[in-house]
Amino acid sequence: MTAFVEHKVIKELGDLAYTMWKMGWDEKNGGNISYLLSADELSEFILDENPRTFVLNGIPENMIGKYIVITASGSNFRLIKDFLEETVGIIKVTEKGYEIIAGFQQDNKPTSEIYMHLLSHSARLDVDANHRVIVHNHATEISAMTFVHELEEKAFSRTLWGIITECIVVFPDGVGVLPWMVCGNEEIGKCTAEKLTYCRIVIWSHHGILTSGSSLNDAFGLIETVNKAAKIYMQTFDKRMTSGITDEELVELCEFFEVTPREGIIETSTMER
Ligand code: 13P
Ligand code: ZN
Repeated sequence: MTAFVEHKVIKELGDLAYTMWKMGWDEKNGGNISYLLSADELSEFILDENPRTFVLNGIPENMIGKYIVITASGSNFRLIKDFLEETVGIIKVTEKGYEIIAGFQQDNKPTSEIYMHLLSHSARLDVDANHRVIVHNHATEISAMTFVHELEEKAFSRTLWGIITECIVVFPDGVGVLPWMVCGNEEIGKCTAEKLTYCRIVIWSHHGILTSGSSLNDAFGLIETVNKAAKIYMQTFDKRMTSGITDEELVELCEFFEVTPREGIIETSTMER
């Protein structure tokens, strides 16, 4: 058994929260993180004897019985690593909602984006057996870009791919883009999950971004890459002398790195198959 605050997953999550806060992407309580525990990882925790039970409608079938480490609603990302027992907890997903089985001291509860996390995990597990993590934050430049770029997601993906050579290799499925929506409800969870059936990144216009991955590092790396491209876009879109990476060059990259770009974004008819 490992003390809650000493567990590898909990520590890594606290470190990531602090890193993201330092990058300016998690002001105050902006952002939330969740991680699907394996049976082995779960067995290392001491669980509460009297779990608190919460009702939620519409729990997806494939999430029932899953154990999730998740950040608390209202937790200050700068301080998560110093208050892990209060700001992080483990929930067990049930048919009717969830039970808090560790952490969330002082009556804390999971993020208000719980629907988004549950529905997003469900969607990704359906298409990727290695899926484990959802990370949401308010990355600055990607949020800024939703004010100056059209919000059609194929055009948005094409722009990002054209900015940094690595982008199409790191996220060949492109990004999903949602219009502005009220956050925290089932509706935004459903719309987000629908996008995650075909890509790993969803941009919430005028709000932020969320990514999925096989590890905390994997999901965070996607945010770093997308935001770096968005930062360059914001610094250059109104003063460009060149038009960036061409379709032909993107095809060359895909062939060299053996990735398949999402259909309908670039002209791929010349690609070797
Ligand atoms: P929580 O504090 O409830 O996690 O909400 C933060 C947030 O970013 C909502 O989108
Ligand atoms: Zn948010």
